[in-house]
Amino acid sequence: MRSMAIIGAQWGDEGKGKITDLLGQKSDLVIRYQGGNNAGHTIIVGEKKIVLHLIPSGILHQHCTSVVGHGVVFDPEAFQVELKDIQGSGVDVSPERLRISENCTVITFYNKLLDGQREAKGPIKIGTTGKGIGPAYEDKTTRKGIKLKDLLNKESLVEKLRDNLIEKEILFKHLYEVSYPSPEEEAERLFELGKLIKPYLCDTFSLIDHAIQKNKKILYEGAQGVLLDIDYGSYPYVTSSNTSAGGIYTGAGCPGSSVEEVLGITKAYVTRVGEGPFPTELFSELGEKIQQIGGEFGATTGRKRRCGWMDLPLLKYTVKASNITSIALTKLDVLCGLEDLKYCYAYNYEGREIDCAYPGIDLAKVEPLYRELKTFHDDFKTDQLSAPLKEYIQTIEDFIGIPVGILAYGPERSEIQFCKEYLH
Ligand code: GDP
Ligand code: IMO
Ligand code: MG
Repeated sequence: MRSMAIIGAQWGDEGKGKITDLLGQKSDLVIRYQGGNNAGHTIIVGEKKIVLHLIPSGILHQHCTSVVGHGVVFDPEAFQVELKDIQGSGVDVSPERLRISENCTVITFYNKLLDGQREAKGPIKIGTTGKGIGPAYEDKTTRKGIKLKDLLNKESLVEKLRDNLIEKEILFKHLYEVSYPSPEEEAERLFELGKLIKPYLCDTFSLIDHAIQKNKKILYEGAQGVLLDIDYGSYPYVTSSNTSAGGIYTGAGCPGSSVEEVLGITKAYVTRVGEGPFPTELFSELGEKIQQIGGEFGATTGRKRRCGWMDLPLLKYTVKASNITSIALTKLDVLCGLEDLKYCYAYNYEGREIDCAYPGIDLAKVEPLYRELKTFHDDFKTDQLSAPLKEYIQTIEDFIGIPVGILAYGPERSEIQFCKEYLH
């Protein structure tokens, strides 16, 4: 297997960072292809905790080249902060090891301002990360986006920003009544940041193409999760990119090549941060307990993550929507020893029972149907799993029709069991 993808199979934060880091050991290239610094991917190495937002999670492996593909929306200031932070942890983030597409769309100050104002004053609150992600993707699709290569020429940058601001200015002045920098001021800020970024910029499309031709091992690192996908997710409570495997083809570019394995990452339960429907959400003390044991706080915003039971109709759907070929089941340790566990096996929806969600389903109106799950007490010290845990894993596999290839039972690199070989 020469290429594979890591995809969040829920609403994000499933443990993609940890798994990408581990499989990064076997990869030549680790590539981010969508999203931006709304992502927060945690890697724990001994006492060190590293949270990556824009930099791919292969960066800890010296032999591995990290690539930020053109589908990523890129905040140069956030990159500057992250770079300093990661370098401060002793990681080599030199331009030889990190390549960034010169064609990434830039997240401007205007994008961040608009995101914040909409969340604070708009008619619906999505609960975004406030990083300007949605407005930057809007700029891209309305063909007014600023590209990273534009930061290198101050004169043309001012012109592009002036054009970019025309409609937004009306919103800032008359709807939101906030102050904003002039195109000249914003160009100055971005131009200065451009100097830092310039050595990292290149044509990543050809870089990836050459790597494929040379039979290199490639790992595509998804951000967010399929349920936040702009097309497949719980719209409008989604992010603004294709978080499913489809995003790889447009956001990284793997011309003429296919992704051989799509590994979906799912927790043994479900979490969600931000607004939006969540059929199996727990409002009980048990939900609080899972939140606390699991340390369920957002890695980007620090917000409390909402917790709920494993939702198999949603998992079956994300497997189909993203062509997932195997699953990594994470955070099993969190459920260990807990009583009264459940999972959802079907929904009552519009007068019938269904076992798989679909695009546009109104998740606020489904009634989840549950089955009990036997308590398991595994300490994971050996490969032998308890009968109740085996039964849970078997239930999931039977339901979604693909194998569970990885079991994770703690944040550390070593707290993992591979039931399948990847990138061999
Ligand atoms: P990502 O966005 O998918 O990379 O996930 P996050 O890093 O946002 O959140 C996952 C959190 O769970 C991080 O704090 C990880 O260190 C942690 N984690 C990952 N796998 C496990 C696991 O199997 N058990 C426990 N207890 N924590 C885990
Ligand atoms: P990782 O990669 C969890 C959520 C936000 C909000 C919605 C839209 O760490 O799994 P946005 O700022 O993208 O416009 O917010 O998406 N969201 C995430 N939730 N993990 C993430 O990334 C997320 N990135 C965005 O909370 O509900
Ligand atoms: Mg995260």
